[in-house]
Amino acid sequence: MRKVLVTGSAGFIGFHLSKLLLAEGFQVIGYDAMTDYYDVRLKERRHQQLLQNQNFSCTIGMLEEFDKLKSLCDAEKPDVIVHLAAQAGVRYSLENPRAYIESNVVGTFNVMECARELGVDHLLMASTSSVYGANEDMPYSELHKVDAQMTIYAATKKANEAMAHSYAHLWDLPTTMFRFFTVYGPWGRPDMALFKFTKGIIEDTPIDIYNNGDMFRDFTYVEDLVKGIRLLVDAAPVRPETAADIPEGDSLSPVAPYRVVNIGNSDKVRLMDFVEAIETELGKPAIRNYMEMQAGDVPATWADATLLQTLTGYKPQTDVREGVKKFVAWYKDYYNV
Ligand SMILES: NC(=O)c1ccc[n+]([C@@H]2O[C@H](COP(=O)([O-])OP(=O)(O)OC[C@H]3O[C@@H](n4cnc5c(N)ncnc54)[C@H](O)[C@@H]3O)[C@@H](O)[C@H]2O)c1
Repeated sequence: MRKVLVTGSAGFIGFHLSKLLLAEGFQVIGYDAMTDYYDVRLKERRHQQLLQNQNFSCTIGMLEEFDKLKSLCDAEKPDVIVHLAAQAGVRYSLENPRAYIESNVVGTFNVMECARELGVDHLLMASTSSVYGANEDMPYSELHKVDAQMTIYAATKKANEAMAHSYAHLWDLPTTMFRFFTVYGPWGRPDMALFKFTKGIIEDTPIDIYNNGDMFRDFTYVEDLVKGIRLLVDAAPVRPETAADIPEGDSLSPVAPYRVVNIGNSDKVRLMDFVEAIETELGKPAIRNYMEMQAGDVPATWADATLLQTLTGYKPQTDVREGVKKFVAWYKDYYNV
C-alpha cells in the first residue's frame, strides 16, 4: 500500500485530499499543528472524520519542530509527501508577517529536508495564484515570469518555489508546485469570502465587499482541486536531457525534475455574481458594505489550466452556483441553522 504524508491534514484542503486518498486505498500519515488562526474545533472535527478510517493516523506538531517531523518520517517512510500546511491567508499577512516566515519558509525547508533524506518518489507542495501578484497578462500561465508579489504571503510562496527548484536540481528530487486559485467548498475556511458572506447573510450583519465589488476570481471547487492533486501525484516530473526535450507549454525546468502547475477552474467569475449565487441559495439579500480595495489585494485572478489537463487529462469543471449550493448545505447542517 502506498503511503502519503499529508502536512496540513486538518486544514481545509488537506482534509479533502486525505479523504480522497483514503477512498482510493492509500495509507495517509497526517501532520498538523492545529494552529489557532481560525476555529480549532473545525480542524478537530475534520481530523475526527479522517480517523474513522484505519489507514489514517496523525501527529500534532509544528513544521518548525524539525525533530518531530523527522522522527515521523523515519518511522513511517512515506513514498510521497504532499505539503499543504502553511500560514495561509493574504490579508492576515499584513498583520502578522512573521508567522508566514516561520511556517512557510522555515517549515517548508524542514519538509524539503525530510523529503531529501527519505528520497521520496515525489514531493508536491502548495504555492498560490498570489505569486502572479501584479501581473496583468491573463489567464495566468505557469510560463509567465512571476516577479511582482504584493504581500509577504505571496513572497513566502514564491520563495518556496525557488527553494524547491534548488533541491530538485541538487538532489534529483521530483517536485511539483501547485498554484491554487481561490478554493471553496464544504468544510471551508472561516477567513475566506464564501464563509464570511454566508455567515453575514444568515445573521443579518453587513458583508464587506472590496473594491466596490469590481473584482474577479477564478473560484475552484475543493473536490475538483483535490482530484487534480491526486492525479498529479502520479505525474512526477522527470529531469529533461536537454531543454529541447521540454514539451511546448510545459513549465518543466531545463535543469531539474521540477514543474509548477496551476489548479484552477479557468473561469473568471465576477465577485457580485458570486454574492448573488449565495443570496439565491439562502433566499435572502446581503447587507452590502462596499469598501475600497485592500492593500496587497489584486482585482482579478484567472488560471490557464491547460498544463494540468495535458498532464492528467483532467479539467476542473464545477460551476460556481453548484459549488456554492454544496457549501451552503454543509454550513446549515454544520452550524444547525
Ligand atoms: N484555500 C485556498 O484558496 C488556497 C489558495 C492558494 C493556496 N493555498 C495553499 O494551500 C494550502 C492549504 O490551504 P488551506 O486552505 O487548506 O488552509 P488551512 O489553513 O485550512 O490549512 C492549513 C493547515 O496547516 C496547519 N498549519 C499552519 N501552520 C502550521 C505549522 N507551522 N506547522 C504545522 N501545521 C501548520 C494549520 O493548522 C491548518 O490545519 C496552504 O499552503 C495554502 O497557502 C490555499
